[in-house]
Amino acid sequence: MRIVRVHDKKFEPYLTAEMIQTRIKAIAAQLNKDYAGKKPVFIAILNGSFIFAADLFKELSIEVEICFIKLASYKGTRSTGQVITAIGLDMDIFGREVVIVEDIVDTGKTLSEFLPQLQHQQPASLKIVALLHKPEATVFPIPIDYLGFSIPNKFVVGYGLDYDGLGRNIPEIYKLTE
Ligand code: IMP
Repeated sequence: MRIVRVHDKKFEPYLTAEMIQTRIKAIAAQLNKDYAGKKPVFIAILNGSFIFAADLFKELSIEVEICFIKLASYKGTRSTGQVITAIGLDMDIFGREVVIVEDIVDTGKTLSEFLPQLQHQQPASLKIVALLHKPEATVFPIPIDYLGFSIPNKFVVGYGLDYDGLGRNIPEIYKLTE
């Protein structure tokens, strides 16, 4: 088994590139069906979701827009509990069908703070697609409408996800060794 080192920690393989792409194709097929003719706006949350958003977006065959915002709450392997908007939304979503694209929902804090801000702008609908969810870590329950994988409460890196800035470029998802 290939172990990778990121900063001071060791990570082991968890989700292969093939497993990830298979789930993305299934989610995209559902989105293509659900949003046909609705011209949705996808809002991807940086930094972590950039690879997932790109791969998902390439599988969408409907008319669709994408924009990015940047929120951050993590330092090292722990959530700081404080959500900072580093780059805000530069788009009018009033009356639009909106889909949030998130890499991972952990405590739910990030989305629990961000969703009310979006609701305030009165979109026609607001749904969430997340690649990963850690149900055991939930503090703020978030309804995830389209989910890639439900995972145990373990820190993961790769495929856009970082540990203190590093590891985002690893093509698969690795989890912290015991
Ligand atoms: P939440 O606000 O606790 O739900 O955390 C959401 C954000 O924390 C995600 O968008 C990630 O950027 C980061 N995060 C949570 N868990 C992990 C992890 O296991 N690895 C890397 N980043 C994570």
